[in-house]
Amino acid sequence: MPVPPPIVELQEVLKRFGDGPLVLDRVSFAAQPGDFVSLIGPSGCGKSTLLRLIAGLTPLTSGALTVDGRSPDAAAADLAFVFQEPTLLPWLTVAANIELPLSLRGIAPAERTATRRRVLDLVRLPEKADAYPRQLSGGQKMRVSIARALALSPKILLLDEPFGALDEMTREHLNEELLAIRERHAWTAFFVTHSVAEAVFLSNRICVMSANPGHVHTEIPVPFPYPRTEETRLSRPYHDLVTDVSRILRSVETITV
Ligand SMILES: Nc1ncnc2c1ncn2[C@@H]1O[C@H](COP(=O)(O)OP(=O)(O)O)[C@@H](O)[C@H]1O
Ligand SMILES: [Mg+2]
Repeated sequence: MPVPPPIVELQEVLKRFGDGPLVLDRVSFAAQPGDFVSLIGPSGCGKSTLLRLIAGLTPLTSGALTVDGRSPDAAAADLAFVFQEPTLLPWLTVAANIELPLSLRGIAPAERTATRRRVLDLVRLPEKADAYPRQLSGGQKMRVSIARALALSPKILLLDEPFGALDEMTREHLNEELLAIRERHAWTAFFVTHSVAEAVFLSNRICVMSANPGHVHTEIPVPFPYPRTEETRLSRPYHDLVTDVSRILRSVETITV
C-alpha cells in the first residue's frame, strides 16, 4: 500500500529570532495524518517555537516546512491552537467565546450555534453555554478552550501544555476525554507536555528534544492500541515505557543543563 503524504513535514528546519542564537537546529520530522505526536524536552528547547512555526505564527530561518502540502500560512484554516492558559474572554459567555472565531471566519449564525452546541456536547459541558469564564473551574475552562479549537474543525490540533496547570486527577480525566473525542474526529495532534506519563498515554509517537540549540534527540513509537483507558495506565508495558522515556529525558536534561 502506498504511504500517504505527510500532513506535516519539516526538513532541516533552522530557527533563530533576529540575530539571536539558533533556537532550532536541523529539525526534520514527518507526521502522518492521524498521528498524535508529543513533544517533550527541557524548558527552552524550542517546543513552543516548533508549534508556532507549524501554525505559521513565526517564519522559519531556513529549511522547508509543509502543512498538508502547503505553506503554513496557506494551511492556517486547517489548524487550531490550544494554549496552557485557556485565553477565554472574561466578558463573553462560554457560547460567545466558542462562536467568536467562527464569526471571524464569516460563518452564519445558525451554523455557529449548531457547531457550538456540538462541541460543547463533545467536551460534556452543554449546561455551561450561558456561564461566564469566572464561573468555571480550571478544568472546565480548559474544556471550553478545547471546544473552541474543535469548533474550527481543524485537521491539525496544536496543543501547548494544555493541562500543565491542572491537578493530576483532572489532567488524567481530560486526557481520556481528549482521546475519546479523537476517536470520532481523527485530527493530527502535536502536543507539548512536561509529563512523560501524559505523553505515553496520549501519543503514538514521542519526540524527545534536546536544547541549546533545540533538536529532536530521540523519537519513540508508542505501540499501545487505541482506545486507551485506565487499564492502559495500570498495565506493565505502559509503566515500563514511562520509565524508559523518563530515563531518556533525564539523560537529555543532564547534557543541556
Ligand atoms: N519571540 C521570541 N524572540 C526571541 N527569542 C525567543 C522568542 N520566542 C522564544 N524565544 C527563545 O527561543 C528559545 C526556545 O523557546 P520556547 O520555544 O518557548 O521553548 P520551550 O517551549 O521548549 O520552553 C528560548 O531560548 C526562548 O528564549
Ligand atoms: Mg513552551
